[in-house]
Amino acid sequence: MNERVTLKNNNGHLEIGGINASNLVKKYGTPLYVMDQTYIEDMCKTFSDTLKKEYGDGMIAYASKAFSCKEIYRIANNMGIGADTVSGGEIYTAKSVNFPMEKICFHGNNKTTAELKFAVESGVGYIVLDSYTEADELDLICKQLSIKQKVLIRINPGVEAHTHHFIQTAKIDSKFGFAISTGEAEEIVNYVKNKQNLDLVGLHCHIGSQIFETKSFVIAVNKMTDFYKKLKLDYGYEFSVLNLGGGFGIYYAGDDAKKSSKEYAEYIKLIANTLKEDVERKGLKKPFLILEPGRSIVGEAGITLYTVGRIKKIKNIKNYIAVDGGMFDNPRFALYQAKYTVVAVDKMNLSANEKYTVAGKCCESGDIIAEDCLLPNVEEGDILAVLSTGAYNYSMSSNYNRNLIPPVVMVKNGESRYVVKPQTYEDLIRNDI
Ligand code: LLP
Repeated sequence: MNERVTLKNNNGHLEIGGINASNLVKKYGTPLYVMDQTYIEDMCKTFSDTLKKEYGDGMIAYASKAFSCKEIYRIANNMGIGADTVSGGEIYTAKSVNFPMEKICFHGNNKTTAELKFAVESGVGYIVLDSYTEADELDLICKQLSIKQKVLIRINPGVEAHTHHFIQTAKIDSKFGFAISTGEAEEIVNYVKNKQNLDLVGLHCHIGSQIFETKSFVIAVNKMTDFYKKLKLDYGYEFSVLNLGGGFGIYYAGDDAKKSSKEYAEYIKLIANTLKEDVERKGLKKPFLILEPGRSIVGEAGITLYTVGRIKKIKNIKNYIAVDGGMFDNPRFALYQAKYTVVAVDKMNLSANEKYTVAGKCCESGDIIAEDCLLPNVEEGDILAVLSTGAYNYSMSSNYNRNLIPPVVMVKNGESRYVVKPQTYEDLIRNDI
């Protein structure tokens, strides 16, 4: 595991936020998502301080698709950062806790008319356009509301980031964005420039997620600034904003790099310095830089606690441990064959020399949490922790098989509290007719 002051082996027991994991289980039960507030705050601060120090004018916009609930917008706001949203629901949640709407970027390849209207009425800072008809529709909405909306356009710089296929977003055949190489990006820029009620302040790109190869970010910056230069020379456009998305890779298991928050800040430092050099060399106005990290802010902050149920040993083939959660609280193995570190929270000092596959309780063979994990001998009733589940777990959870989505508990300095309450069976049938 990527140990730190707030997540550590405390004499053989896993401790998070100053509390032994097994004490959290006594208080809240399992399955349980636990989020480490200190870690989240540290990442927000380190990222925004680094952006300010290395670049100057800019904003970290936390990609809230990674983990969205009221409390995360409160924390982001307290830390002075903005947010990236991708649906009316995320905007609504942020708005419900008075998140400053001007610090929100709204993305999506198919935002509905209702969502666009809601975003404009709510005063969202930037809407990131991803199609011609969306530009038409938004222009009309803004006209009706007498608002001039700041917009960006999603550009596909055509960078191949080395990550899972479904998480790559800036390859040429992506459903997102307008490719620079085909001339489509240039066409849409000219189109949006002519919209009376839209203020095209800059462009956006996001090359993928869980990227370790920092070269990919450098190439993306180079390509975007080349494009800014071309638009300046050919049309005289000078943009005041550049949004480069998120995508910084974090530690899950095995060979993934283990980093401190300061080391994670290197991603920002590299992007900032590359951009500064590029704008100077290419004679561009220095844009306001927006970065949208999601996973790196909340991913390693989260763990999921489960109770071990049935253990199935298929002689010489495989040992399964079934837990009281599954793909309904963490679908990432089923979707991406994601890897995780799993520990037995009260057996941290025993040697981990048995291989187990941790399976969920759903009625589906593919319902696996983690494959081939090394653990000490595990028995029914033991508590397991799956680490680095803070991003894209709760936010991707479902009620599949009518299982209840686990609650989320936030921990800090030895204190714990619900930030998302447990669901009940009554919740499951609430909207059924
Ligand atoms: N900005 C945009 C426009 C994005 O599409 C994304 C992620 C981010 C920022 C944040 O990227 P991050 O820093 O979190 O890597 N469900 C997948 C991840 C999908 C990411 C989609 N876009 C997973 O579980 O790995």
